[in-house]
Amino acid sequence: MKTAKFSRLGFILAAVGSAVGLGNIWKFPYVTGEYGGGAFVLIYLITALFVGIFVLIAELLIGKLGQSDAVSMFENLATKHKKAWKWAGFVVIVPLIILSYYSVVIGWIFHYIVISFEKLPTTVKESTDNFMNLLTSDYQTQLFYHTIVFVLVTAIILKGIKNGIEKINKILMPLLGILLGILFVYSINIDAFVDAAHFMFDPDFSKLTSTGVIVAIGQAFYTLSLGMGIIITYAASLPKQSNIVRSSLIIAIIDTIVAIVAGLIIFTLLFDKGAQSTKGAGLVFISLPSVFYEFGGAGQFLALLFFIAIAFAGITSAISMMEPTVLYLIQRFNMSRTKAAIICSIFFYLLGIVTLFSNITEYKPLLNVGDKSFFDWVDFVCSTMLVPCGGILVVVFVGYYMDKTKIRKELVPLMGKTFVSIWFFMIRYIIPFALFAVILNETGILNS
Ligand code: PFF
Ligand code: NA
Repeated sequence: MKTAKFSRLGFILAAVGSAVGLGNIWKFPYVTGEYGGGAFVLIYLITALFVGIFVLIAELLIGKLGQSDAVSMFENLATKHKKAWKWAGFVVIVPLIILSYYSVVIGWIFHYIVISFEKLPTTVKESTDNFMNLLTSDYQTQLFYHTIVFVLVTAIILKGIKNGIEKINKILMPLLGILLGILFVYSINIDAFVDAAHFMFDPDFSKLTSTGVIVAIGQAFYTLSLGMGIIITYAASLPKQSNIVRSSLIIAIIDTIVAIVAGLIIFTLLFDKGAQSTKGAGLVFISLPSVFYEFGGAGQFLALLFFIAIAFAGITSAISMMEPTVLYLIQRFNMSRTKAAIICSIFFYLLGIVTLFSNITEYKPLLNVGDKSFFDWVDFVCSTMLVPCGGILVVVFVGYYMDKTKIRKELVPLMGKTFVSIWFFMIRYIIPFALFAVILNETGILNS
């Protein structure tokens, strides 16, 4: 059974839609703040543009040559150990699990769109109280918006590749570009823009730690939606004539530009008002809202544009997290799209409710394991551990288990013999070890 294909532009927009998400606008700025600015950004740029593009090419290759769901592609394309490689395809469950809390966070963003309309917090203290109240006691609001995200994502997936995924990305991605463009032009005209640019581009290597380097590599994978069967699945619906090398370049470059631009906007606004960048979630949900308030009437407008922009980025990524499992169920079990979509969406919806309640003070003791809430565990295990594991599977598969002649036949016309050799070398000998270092770091073995 064969599903519809993307148009060429549709594919690029959908892949960019998946890549550009909370990882760019929310996570990238705060890890940059945490790991010392310029030097971190430099390492991130190098990994995103080199390692990232190499792995993107590998994932697009699997999709283009495999033309099926992720599980079948690993099974069919493996030159040996087919039965074992089939299991690699089950990484598709990871993004579906990530979606459970990603949806909750998109819900917070929806809530902040409403707050920007109504009334921004006037002080950092008020802003902190607002957010902590939402997070630790107001489960009604969180549940309400989580449900809205669930309905939206399900509705789009139900409409399929062409009329759902391609269409929504064709609308939301250009709008996202316009919103960020307006915010960017606004920040360029603020004096603090220069400080923000210094902070992001003046590398001070004394601030860079080995953990910083490894976090940068992990971020490069997360931000490009690699290692989760997502790009592989989207690429299975690539039109025949598309150039996978050029597509990889475009996806990685746009994703990187959005991260940099978002960082510049956020740090300009923060520095202009002398605000500190609170760590983690706080940067966008605590520091920024009170900073927006200080910009007066314009601030409310900026806040609105900003939160709508992240909401668009989040929704298009959320869709991409569900499609791989949906396609797997359709292809392997001959399910209708409707049935597959409903099964997947109920799964992430219910899991999302558990993660949501794990932050609520009353239920915390019930749902906490060790010193982390269930929410933090899911994020930690999936985003930081399993993403690099998925990345290793992809590069080992493409580097050692796929038919080399087929790969060369596809890639040599696109990038020439020398580059194909360099690419192979990276995929086989460098990237697996870099990712392994990321995993060791996350388990704490490297930072004793
Ligand atoms: N690349 C997305 C981001 O930067 O926000 C995150 C993401 C998308 C993670 C899809 C996982 C995923 F399956
Ligand atoms: Na991203």
